[in-house]
Amino acid sequence: MFDIQDHRFGKTWLKALSAPLPETLASPSETARFELGAYFGPSETPSVQVIPEMGDSYRIERKDGLLCVSGGETGVLYGAYALLFASAAGSKLPEQTQTPYYPLRVLSCWDNMDGSVERGYSGRSIWFEGGHLCYEPGRICQLGRMLASAGINVLCLNNVNVHYPAQELMLGMLPELAAFAGLLRPFGVRLMLSADFSMPLRYGLDTADTLDEGVQRWWRDRAESVWKAIPDFAGFMVKADSEHRPGPNAYGRTHAEGANMLARAIAPFGGTLIWRAFVYDCMQDWRDTKTDRAKAAYELYKPLDGCFDENVVLQVKHGPFDFQVREPVSPLLLSMPGTRLALEVQLAQEYTGQQTDIYAMPPMWREVFDTVGKDRVKAFTAVSNLGRDANWTGHPFAALNLFAFGRFAWDPDTDPEQVTRLWARLTYSLETAQEDTLVKWLMRSRRIYEKYTSNLGLGWMVTPNSHYGPNPWGYEFQAWGTYNRADREKVGIDRTFSGTDYVGQYPEKMKNEYADLETCPDDLLLFFHRLGYGYGMRDGRSLIQRIYDDHFDGYREAEEMAEELLTLPLPPEDMAEVRDRMLRQLANAREWRDVTNTFFRRLSGAEDAQGRKIFA
Ligand code: GCU
Repeated sequence: MFDIQDHRFGKTWLKALSAPLPETLASPSETARFELGAYFGPSETPSVQVIPEMGDSYRIERKDGLLCVSGGETGVLYGAYALLFASAAGSKLPEQTQTPYYPLRVLSCWDNMDGSVERGYSGRSIWFEGGHLCYEPGRICQLGRMLASAGINVLCLNNVNVHYPAQELMLGMLPELAAFAGLLRPFGVRLMLSADFSMPLRYGLDTADTLDEGVQRWWRDRAESVWKAIPDFAGFMVKADSEHRPGPNAYGRTHAEGANMLARAIAPFGGTLIWRAFVYDCMQDWRDTKTDRAKAAYELYKPLDGCFDENVVLQVKHGPFDFQVREPVSPLLLSMPGTRLALEVQLAQEYTGQQTDIYAMPPMWREVFDTVGKDRVKAFTAVSNLGRDANWTGHPFAALNLFAFGRFAWDPDTDPEQVTRLWARLTYSLETAQEDTLVKWLMRSRRIYEKYTSNLGLGWMVTPNSHYGPNPWGYEFQAWGTYNRADREKVGIDRTFSGTDYVGQYPEKMKNEYADLETCPDDLLLFFHRLGYGYGMRDGRSLIQRIYDDHFDGYREAEEMAEELLTLPLPPEDMAEVRDRMLRQLANAREWRDVTNTFFRRLSGAEDAQGRKIFA
């Protein structure tokens, strides 16, 4: 038995599932039977009926007075968790057959084999250390349980920036990888690896050129040995020609040629090739005001629409930049009808508070899906926020984002408040009014963070590299290409027809909405427009006053949030983390408020209409 009862790691939303997991579980349906039996007890255990062709789908019915979960091999496990959660949360049982909207629900982990995690804010890697797979089996099983119960079915194990020896995972380390895969199999979680496009060069070939037959053969051989060791392996993820990663461009080949070559190597095994569309010029000259980083992905990939093989999924970040608090949706998501797309979000709070500041993501994803349309994408993927910390996600509330990600991947029509409430109820034992308080602040947390960090769509006013803390000109003179160009008169970038014409990448209706100052949403105003500080906002305030007000309001609301959340009767270990992080959040918010307001006051010379303290 893996004793998770008194273990050093937290149960997150699995509070109701306290039974130790037997090591002997061999399949998802066995896990389903075990979980139901342990929870309901022998006389009340719902029956489980596997109907293989149902795959991930399930149905919960009452037959002769007893509950029955029927579904595919993985479906019954999802059904079992749905039943357990409904029972634990006191909510209605799902009716009719339930089928996930996206077959691929991928958690992408930026774990390096030295044990570090790129953009990780909850400790070191759960499965890598010292160049090896190194883990506690019980913890991996508990992870499988968490992922399956949220609905996640693919775990990409290593950083998209593939650092040596991660290449070895699909070579000499395959037996270890297969053992690891075996621990997650009973939870219906399949493994994926990030692949390094230049790998053939490291292993004796003198080229990694897509069109070279030796290279093609090399990748086919790799695929064959990987699938031989792990027959249910899910596929590869590739970051190519991006931020100094190798790619097909070095050989004059297109990204479709690069992706298709790898896709063909893995197609015979049913593998999926996820190709990331996060490609831009990261060596831009800040003096060059014509090049607009936001335009890069569309310009590269739009002409390739229809050129990718069936088993390629082009993975697009939700906005054109890089997981900022607020970006318009990536125009690429709206303009590739001939390509299977994945929508990528980032649970790791790189730009969104680093799991110190509270930032619940469901409201943001609701907006993204409502704007993009759930049927435009074929998969939902997220950069993981997991780490070796006892509570898995650093901030105990950050576990909501992992849980909700799985729920949105299963059903992109998910209601943000409902999923937040479900998570809160499964995680804590709060009275209704207390639960309301927690849910209320989680729902408001993103807006609060946005107000004290970067309002009106500005973004990027962060400390370079670490991406935490205020630095209004941090990216102003850098090569990465995202600038606010604040001067004494104006701030923001003109991305309309008169400026960089980024807006021209959107379908007609959105293009007009964003380009027209009358209709451009306030939240994106300075993303699309360059405006004077005296510009009159729709609400009657001047632009500069709105900047000041949001920063003051954001800090004040963070204070109110802290005051109320710290009254909740959370378990002591969670409360200690929440208190410690809330204090840091407040210090951060204060700093951000004062630095940003001072910055803009020094430039604009404008006084605050309410006479509040802004430093000279
Ligand atoms: C961001 C992040 C990097 C990461 C990259 C990616 O730029 O800062 O750490 O590698 O996104 O998505 O590949």
